[in-house]
Amino acid sequence: MDSSQLNRRALLGLGTRGAAATIGASALAAPLLLSHQATAKDEHQHETPTQADEHTAHGQSMTMGEVDLDRLGWHPDELLTDFDYGEVTETRPDGTVVREWNIVAFDREIEIAPGLFFPAWTYNGRVPGPTLRANEGDLLRIHFTNAGSHPHTMHFHGIHSAFHDGVTGIGRGEIAIGDQHTYEFTAKPFGLHLYHCHASPLKRHIHKGLYGTFIVNPDPKKRGDLAKKRHPDFEESKEWQEFVMVMNAFDTTFDAANEVYAINSIAFQHMKHPIVVDKTRPIRIYLVNVVEFDLINSFHLHANFFDYYDSGTTLEPTLRTVDIISQMQAQRGILEMSFAEHEAGLYMFHAHVTEFTELGWMAAFDVRDSVV
Ligand code: CU
Ligand code: CU
Repeated sequence: MDSSQLNRRALLGLGTRGAAATIGASALAAPLLLSHQATAKDEHQHETPTQADEHTAHGQSMTMGEVDLDRLGWHPDELLTDFDYGEVTETRPDGTVVREWNIVAFDREIEIAPGLFFPAWTYNGRVPGPTLRANEGDLLRIHFTNAGSHPHTMHFHGIHSAFHDGVTGIGRGEIAIGDQHTYEFTAKPFGLHLYHCHASPLKRHIHKGLYGTFIVNPDPKKRGDLAKKRHPDFEESKEWQEFVMVMNAFDTTFDAANEVYAINSIAFQHMKHPIVVDKTRPIRIYLVNVVEFDLINSFHLHANFFDYYDSGTTLEPTLRTVDIISQMQAQRGILEMSFAEHEAGLYMFHAHVTEFTELGWMAAFDVRDSVV
């Protein structure tokens, strides 16, 4: 174990003596220790597969203990299914619904692995920020207050005016510390989008935690019957088990490389606590990639295949029957799958960039015959 490995182990809160207990047998070879900074010697050591590699490849590399959920302020299971439709403040004579949210940016330390804290910049105290969801054609007003320590913005992926684009030097531009702005635009196009701070330097403002998911449900009146299964007002949507998963990562050493990877911020959370699903009901995942510093991320499902809708802007899949998709930063898509023909059990999913997997981006569905 060289010094960079020791440093990384310390940063992950793993200690150095408890290694075997932490990450399984023969921990010296555990890929959990690998990083962008791995030396040539490290690479060589991993050329020959060992029993440890076998063990750590799927499921055995893990953190010890649990994140303090009371201190964290949100429950990871709730974050998966917490769709925030805001407050409807007006329905106009032409039928247009006006929907409003209050979002406050502030600095807050969050626990991203047991005992490992990250000094985040947050929207409403969470990373990722609230999942904002609306119906196609709604008029949206997002009242943004900057209570943070730097100028921030909310830049939405969607269709809107330059004034409300939330970018340094354009339109309303940066919102100063203590200042406010109401972003206003119509929810379009339908699909799966995101929002993030677009203050400079952009890379820093994103990786510190200022990002969230923005979903626009397709309008069945305009898009036809296929849209009904993605719109909460219609019976066809009710059987779906929907989850939001933001693939993110944390640079805990501020060296422009990530040490921890996850979906929704907490390393290995849903490997330790698999997501319970009812096998009789189909699953829809709203998947967003916001990882900085690494050019590509991926999602691989075990023992099953899924349909994929790139950006969610179509009602027919853009890819059918795949078990892996890749996303660049800010790329996103909707995954639809069914376990109806499977036996109950644990079905993993994870980044197929193995390094990310072993640094936290690993999870599983607990598929059950029925969920009461
Ligand atoms: Cu910012
Ligand atoms: Cu963007």
